[in-house]
Amino acid sequence: MKLLVIGKNGQVGGELLKALPPSFEVSATDRSTLDLARPEQIASVIQASNPQVIINAAAYTAVDKAESDQATAQAINATAPGVMADAAKSIGALLVHYSTDYVFDGEKDAPYTEDDAPAPLGVYGRTKLDGERAIQASGCRYLILRTEWVYGPYGANFLLTMLRLAASRPELHVVDDQFGAPTSARMIAEATARVLSAGIPQDNGLYHMTAAGRTTWCGFARAILAGSGSKTPVVAIPTKDYPTPAARPRNSLFDNSRFEKRFGFRLPAWEEGLRQCLQTLAKG
Ligand SMILES: NC(=O)c1ccc[n+]([C@@H]2O[C@H](COP(=O)([O-])OP(=O)(O)OC[C@H]3O[C@@H](n4cnc5c(N)ncnc54)[C@H](OP(=O)(O)O)[C@@H]3O)[C@@H](O)[C@H]2O)c1
Repeated sequence: MKLLVIGKNGQVGGELLKALPPSFEVSATDRSTLDLARPEQIASVIQASNPQVIINAAAYTAVDKAESDQATAQAINATAPGVMADAAKSIGALLVHYSTDYVFDGEKDAPYTEDDAPAPLGVYGRTKLDGERAIQASGCRYLILRTEWVYGPYGANFLLTMLRLAASRPELHVVDDQFGAPTSARMIAEATARVLSAGIPQDNGLYHMTAAGRTTWCGFARAILAGSGSKTPVVAIPTKDYPTPAARPRNSLFDNSRFEKRFGFRLPAWEEGLRQCLQTLAKG
């Protein structure tokens, strides 16, 4: 199987390069070889590579910065995936694309299904939703995997921030009224590899795909510090005491049953992803 991974230096992109089986013929781009802010480059790079599967792991993920940089977020999260989808269609390739819990407002009192109506609270969520819709409207073959609370041993993420702050502050104050499932980049990459290892899906689909279980940011922070041996206390605070430029959904929990039914497996518990990640960090 011939694959093109776009965004090889991101959390998920980097893990994909490790998780995809050696039998796959994988090429990959980063910002220097394909700048998604310049959509005119996208079709020629895809056509030159001529893959059977394109995995788009790149995105504008700076949620707060997006509030004041809407044009760039729109270009990378919405326009670029639309152009990728057109290029995928022209060569008959499958486009695998990741999306986010931020397409929802978090007001539902139960886990979100793929049939729930999106209602993004901010620019990042709106641009990611536009990206999903551009892909769906293109007529290409696609697999859109919505995930959430992504972290790993490198990159910019909550886990690394907590470890850094715990080393320099007497206590941490962390939001305890937003619910979700921390999903490691490695789990996402391994699940993607497993899906493709069973053969290139011939049906289009939008799927929720997160680690099993649930917690809050505060619960996640406590588990991170406990797992890394830090004694720094974590104090639970409400969202209103931690204002951010972009509002966050209160409930980010996903119902993953459509994914589990279609692909025949579920992702491990979030605690298992955390254990693996801390182990990787400890090994250096
Ligand atoms: N992070 C989360 O919590 C989260 C939650 C839900 C869904 N997701 C989705 O999951 C997917 C993977 O996210 P992630 O956490 O792995 O993201 P990430 O670590 O922030 O990586 C994003 C990658 O996109 C690249 N990129 C940004 N602008 C680009 C441009 N103009 N041209 C080319 N590449 C560009 C970045 O390149 P540089 O390395 O050069 O900056 C980076 O390598 C994304 O679709 C994201 O929306 C993420």
